[in-house]
Amino acid sequence: MRISAGNSPVCVWPNKTKKSGYFMNHGFLQDVLAGLRLPQKALPPKYFYDAQGSEYFDKICELDEYYPYRTELALLPEVAQELKQYVAQQPIESIQLVEFGAGSLRKVKPLLQELSLIKEFVALDISGEHLKKASADLAESFPDLQIKVAQGDFTKPIELELSEATSMGFFPGSTIGNFEPEEASDFLRNARATLGEGSYMLLGVDTKKDQQMLERAYNDSKDITARFNKNILTRMNRELDANFHLDQFEHLAIYNQDLGRIEMHLRSCIQQEVQIAGESFQFKEGETIHTENSYKYHPEEFDQLASSAGWQREKIWLAPDGIFAIMLLHNADNVRD
Ligand SMILES: C[S@@+](CC[C@H](N)C(=O)[O-])C[C@H]1O[C@@H](n2cnc3c(N)ncnc32)[C@H](O)[C@@H]1O
Repeated sequence: MRISAGNSPVCVWPNKTKKSGYFMNHGFLQDVLAGLRLPQKALPPKYFYDAQGSEYFDKICELDEYYPYRTELALLPEVAQELKQYVAQQPIESIQLVEFGAGSLRKVKPLLQELSLIKEFVALDISGEHLKKASADLAESFPDLQIKVAQGDFTKPIELELSEATSMGFFPGSTIGNFEPEEASDFLRNARATLGEGSYMLLGVDTKKDQQMLERAYNDSKDITARFNKNILTRMNRELDANFHLDQFEHLAIYNQDLGRIEMHLRSCIQQEVQIAGESFQFKEGETIHTENSYKYHPEEFDQLASSAGWQREKIWLAPDGIFAIMLLHNADNVRD
């Protein structure tokens, strides 16, 4: 996708065809069929996020158990203050901030409040309706800020029309952990190409820690994470003519110590057959669909990943007990590839 200069908001809508009362999203269908034909059934986590999925995620962020959201949010004012001092020492006249997976736009506020050099903000998210609402609220709070919103997929190449300003990516929420490490490296390399020479990237990374704390965060007592996980079944029923019975699948979230990741699955409670757009899928009792990974990184492990993509760490801020990290990366080689 291409995000051009100018004031008009950019909205790129997925390829959809109207079919018997609902819209069929062909990319979604292809990904679902490919994922459910695998020996370990799997679905890309980006499909959690329609308007309902984004609402569930906002509710997850309010949960006591879900430490990553509130920990990162609490760290951001300090990050913003130090970033302001850092930026003042660099040859930077203005900043174009680009948030990937921008969601409800809450985390950008401490940055905008502190860094008056941010003149333009580009917010990209796959969940377009939710983003549109959030950007209207942001525009009210920051009337002088130039805001562009784009509905799009950050796993695909993004071409951004660069201005004179220094570009800075913003990727909070430990969303980077949803990628396999090689995919995370690809994302960071693509983002470097998108943001261009001399750019920066500020990103939130969830760190390795006590297994109990990790598993609690993804198995909340109000079952909101379970509803978020099952939203992918609801979407397949509505958008792909599938016939999943939600009560015949249960939410499962476990820490895989060897791979350093939380895995979310949907486990079939019984042996069953499910139809999706005319194709049948068999489930054994206990068989799972792997719906999400959330990789945790020691800061040094993440440094290696970042440098494999051409970024160099300039700064790191650690939350108390090191339970979350925010890092500032710099496009070290001044290369746009
Ligand atoms: C874990 S949430 C983080 C939201 C917000 N940045 C925060 O830190 O609170 C991930 C966000 O990325 C978006 N997202 C997930 N996959 C995406 C993709 N492939 N392309 C664009 N946005 C995506 C989701 O809609 C959601 O808003």
